[in-house]
Amino acid sequence: MQIILGITGGIAAYKAADLARLLTHQGHRVRCVLTEAGARFITPLTLTSLTGEPCYGANPDQGEWRANPSVEHIELARWADLVAVVPATANIIGKAANGLASDLLSTLLLATRAQVLWAPAMNTGMWEHPAVQANLARLRSFGHAVVDPGEGVLACGEEGSGKLADVLSIAEAIRAQGTPKLSSLSGRRVIITAGPTREDLDPVRTLTNRSTGAMGIELARAFRDVGARVQLVLGGDLPSPWGVETLRVRSAQQMLEACEARWAGCDGLVAAAAVADQRPEVPSAQKIKKGEGTESLHLVRTPDILAQLSASRRTDQWVVGFAAESENHLDHAMAKLRNKRLDAVLVNDVQGGQAFGAQANTLTPITAQGPHPPIGPLPKDQLALAVVRWWSQRLENRLT
Ligand code: CTP
Repeated sequence: MQIILGITGGIAAYKAADLARLLTHQGHRVRCVLTEAGARFITPLTLTSLTGEPCYGANPDQGEWRANPSVEHIELARWADLVAVVPATANIIGKAANGLASDLLSTLLLATRAQVLWAPAMNTGMWEHPAVQANLARLRSFGHAVVDPGEGVLACGEEGSGKLADVLSIAEAIRAQGTPKLSSLSGRRVIITAGPTREDLDPVRTLTNRSTGAMGIELARAFRDVGARVQLVLGGDLPSPWGVETLRVRSAQQMLEACEARWAGCDGLVAAAAVADQRPEVPSAQKIKKGEGTESLHLVRTPDILAQLSASRRTDQWVVGFAAESENHLDHAMAKLRNKRLDAVLVNDVQGGQAFGAQANTLTPITAQGPHPPIGPLPKDQLALAVVRWWSQRLENRLT
């Protein structure tokens, strides 16, 4: 993407340098635009060094760091796929909400047809003021995205909300805002199960598996990016992604209950969780002591979440499952598709420990028509987006 990073005058301006570096590292082209106050907190040299792109100033007299004096605000406005204002002061928010254009940043914000994203940072009193909130509501009504500030100790010494959101969350929001929406999924509610489940034997021991949940989390991000409203039901310890409603669970039973409570209000399910198939019949309340000789565990089956949700689905709901196979991939996956009445199965080859914890992966989709061309090998984030695009294409064909 081609991103304009507008930096206004607040102490959090130094964090914009980190964001510029991160976005550049992710492969985006980033051009920074400083307001006069922003330029008091951070220098153009820092930003051009990090981005390899020119940095622009509020004031035409600041020619020394206006790399190409012929570039007008209109050209910059056209160049951008997305304009992010980080940090955004109450002043620039007020100007943009009311259509004022008094410097380069406010002018290009008015001229651009690109997506706009705001990451406000200010004193708690200012943040909570009805004028600021009304201005932000107005910007939202224009289709702009807002990454709300977090809480903490602010530069002014007060404690409360108004602290710039963390840079990784802002980068996530930029990714989500900048990804084209897919009509078959936009605004749709999708449950994604992800991660391992844990079945406790006693207060210190647990039955689990080698899944990290990374693929399910990447799918949640990808569905979020194309406009779906994701409900992530997550086992394991990985952090939940920005902008995704997440419900943390431990056992298969908890995962089932979380999904069932939401299923009626959802359009689709992607079951990416590695659910433990067995659990101890009765978990011991006390730590189990070692005995002499051979010992055994008495295990019973956990509920099959995917099969149960699929069995209770309406005709307008769709269901996609995963299959982790080490041999006879297609036969086993076809059997799963039929037995659990799925719309598609994504087959993961787990021969030799592939997939679990690996960076890159390949998935082969299977539908009632048979196998489709494999997707990948790709890093998991790109693989997830490719899978979501493949699935949305199928939904569109089904709907039209
Ligand atoms: N699944 C589930 N609940 C379970 C077990 C599995 O929702 N108790 C889901 C998984 O999230 C995945 C699919 O079902 O989408 C995998 O099906 P499964 O039959 O468990 O496949 P494998 O784990 O590969 O099991 P096996 O090969 O041993 O049959």
